[in-house]
Amino acid sequence: MEKMEGRNQTYIVEFILLGFGNDPDLQPLLFLLFLVIYILTVAGNSLIIALVVLDQHLHTPMYYLLGNLSCVETCYTSTFLPRLLVSLLTGDRAIPVKGCIVQLFIFGIVANTEALLLTAMSCDRYLAICQPLRYSALMNSRVCFQLAAGCWITSLLSCTAVNTFLFQLTFCGSNEIDHFFCDFSPMMKLSCGDTSTLQLVIFIVAAVGTFVPCLLTLASYGCIIVAILRIPSSTGRKKAFSTCSSHLIVLSIFYGTVITIYVVPTANTPNVIHKIISVIYTALTPLINPVIYCLRNKDIKDAARKVILKTGLFQKQS
Ligand SMILES: *[C@@H]1O[C@H](CO)[C@@H](O)[C@H](O)[C@H]1NC(C)=O
Repeated sequence: MEKMEGRNQTYIVEFILLGFGNDPDLQPLLFLLFLVIYILTVAGNSLIIALVVLDQHLHTPMYYLLGNLSCVETCYTSTFLPRLLVSLLTGDRAIPVKGCIVQLFIFGIVANTEALLLTAMSCDRYLAICQPLRYSALMNSRVCFQLAAGCWITSLLSCTAVNTFLFQLTFCGSNEIDHFFCDFSPMMKLSCGDTSTLQLVIFIVAAVGTFVPCLLTLASYGCIIVAILRIPSSTGRKKAFSTCSSHLIVLSIFYGTVITIYVVPTANTPNVIHKIISVIYTALTPLINPVIYCLRNKDIKDAARKVILKTGLFQKQS
């Protein structure tokens, strides 16, 4: 372990991410499991991005936002899975403190952008279903671009503000983090000195960043459900519901896991359970999004079929 002599304290310059224990039989299995998850996530989300960019029928705000969401989810898994894979393979679990903070920074931006994009997608569905006559006037490609850019810029600014504090922290004592990526609360436990201001700032940023999108989403879906129930014909109801059902599933999974994390008390739950929940919300949610859209959404399915047919014809010709 590398150490730097401070004036009267020994500062840590490297953390050890304990990951999933030392069991030598478990490591190759976990490596394969996460490798498969990573490949499927990147492939599935890249497919959606490619379809949204290439297919003219998908050049609408709803699918532009979906394409952006897939970008975010690819970044999200890429912030920690490649590193986890390397450490499962080589057994090298050390990560420099600065590296850990950068990982947390990028992770924060991406997670925040994801929540905001999901909110933008709910507002888009709200306008489409509840204000159908004004939809094309209210939600054109310029507004959509501003929305998407707004999501990225807001997260970038709020996370930069938090990170200026994080970079000033020093760490001493033990350098072992019992987790598989650099998460905020285990890092706080290892910090020396007072972190109460920082924790307050983070609490406010996280609360505003979670509750405002969550409330907007709930409000949009409340209006959407009321509007759908008012549609007299059942085919009309089904049609309106089908355009937002995939998004509703993705939303439920996202907020379901976020709420589980906050409701399941950290102090009394064994670390294993905490890690399993973390795996679900960090590694599995980005994978579920493309699966749901590819299985349930007719436009995406049609676009995918067309691409496959085209490549099939291309192979026959050559
Ligand atoms: C993200 O959103 C912008 C703004 O609407 C759009 O131009 C862009 O194509 C989207 N990106 C993807 C990958 O869908």
